[in-house]
Amino acid sequence: MKEIPAAKGHWLFGHAMALSKDPLQMPADIANRHGGAVQFRVLHRPFLAITDPVLARHILQKNPDNYPRSFHYESGSITIGHGLLTVEDERWRRSRKMMQPVFRIDPVREVAAVTARCWNDAEQDCRKQMAEGRAVDMVQVCQRLALDVILRALCSLQLEAEQLTHFGALVKASLLRLRLRNNAIVSPPLWLPAPNNRVIHQVRRELDAFLGPVVEGCREHPEGDDMLCALARARDEQGGAFTRQELLDETKTLFAAGFETTATAMAWVMCELADRPDLCDRLAAEADGAFGVAEVSRSTIDQLPLAGRVVEEALRLYPPVYNLGRHSRQDDEVNGVHIPGGVDILISVWGMHRGIHWGETAGQFDPDRWLPDRRPARDAYMPFAAGRHTCIGIHFALVEMQMMVALICHRFRLRWASGAATPSVRPQITASTDGPVWLELASR
Ligand code: HEM
Repeated sequence: MKEIPAAKGHWLFGHAMALSKDPLQMPADIANRHGGAVQFRVLHRPFLAITDPVLARHILQKNPDNYPRSFHYESGSITIGHGLLTVEDERWRRSRKMMQPVFRIDPVREVAAVTARCWNDAEQDCRKQMAEGRAVDMVQVCQRLALDVILRALCSLQLEAEQLTHFGALVKASLLRLRLRNNAIVSPPLWLPAPNNRVIHQVRRELDAFLGPVVEGCREHPEGDDMLCALARARDEQGGAFTRQELLDETKTLFAAGFETTATAMAWVMCELADRPDLCDRLAAEADGAFGVAEVSRSTIDQLPLAGRVVEEALRLYPPVYNLGRHSRQDDEVNGVHIPGGVDILISVWGMHRGIHWGETAGQFDPDRWLPDRRPARDAYMPFAAGRHTCIGIHFALVEMQMMVALICHRFRLRWASGAATPSVRPQITASTDGPVWLELASR
């Protein structure tokens, strides 16, 4: 059996400093340099970094029982509780089965109309700033829009702009603090009143105070037509419903997982579109055809194939979830390669999406690579992971983003504001821009 090569690190710390400094680029680079898989150490802890799609799919899809999610996910439960992202085995299986029907493509098509309604408010906001002669920070626009969509679709909540900003900042703060905790070489126990811990506890209290009453409302009146009410009506095989705490934890999980990811990816779409006025014009023409004839409906997204390719390409070049963390329970073998047991695994989606499978143009933004006759390397593409933990919100996110791209290009021409800096990637919980994306918008 072949052993996976080992990267040489510091004699005491191994690769601890490099990983803590750049959890996005470091695993991507060393795995790609070593042919798709490499062993390394973080202090005494053995790790594997993987960008090889065959190994990754084996871990995620073929033998997932041997590879539960790594310790990185556990810390999420401090703020978002024990929902789909943070529980394993039987508890996860029951919840996933109860939730899956709500997230099928058919019911989720309604998200197209929700996105269009939310966009009306976001567009007014943009126009106000334009009227004052100001550039618009599209990071803020996309964040508020993504949050508005998920709040309205999930629990029919319509917040004012300032409330959206506050709630968005709250979820982001919780994610950031958890990342700091995950990447710290040593984390203080949670009961210590350390600054990071204090923020984590405060965020949890605020999230509970905000969402608790919403969840109770849905449990008392589950006949509503939003997704949370559908979850309140869901039953397991024994006929049992989610308890109040379970429903609250799943709601917090859906917010945490479903708003920052979409907003981050949309911010990168904005950067790419600002560089390509010709592509924006094509998108606007496509949107004219789709929105010109009738109200946005469940079939609108079928008329937006170019917007769909833009979204697929953005999720390739800028996958918001840049690493998937797993832990190997026991020794395993894939095509003659030995995967040791007791090891933490980082599947670098970032490295895979920019690796050899994408040829010489891997680093370029080219939506047309997704045309079927171009045969894109789908095996080496997993922005929503693969196997049983594949993102439950995949259809939600795709419909929402496809609509956002079409709606924005339909109404505005985009170009960089004068003096605006092109952002670099900052690995927070998601692969975010390292600052605002200032664009000048002009009406079409
Ligand atoms: C562009 C947007 C999104 C991306 C790139 C994304 C990506 C992912 C990835 C990679 C995972 C798997 C994590 C792992 O197992 O290690 C995941 C899981 C999950 N996502 Fe998403 N996601 C997005 C949007 C959403 C939305 C909109 C929702 C909810 C409305 C959502 C809810 C979830 C949940 C609940 C899980 C846990 C699933 C499970 O383990 O059964 N995500 N997502």
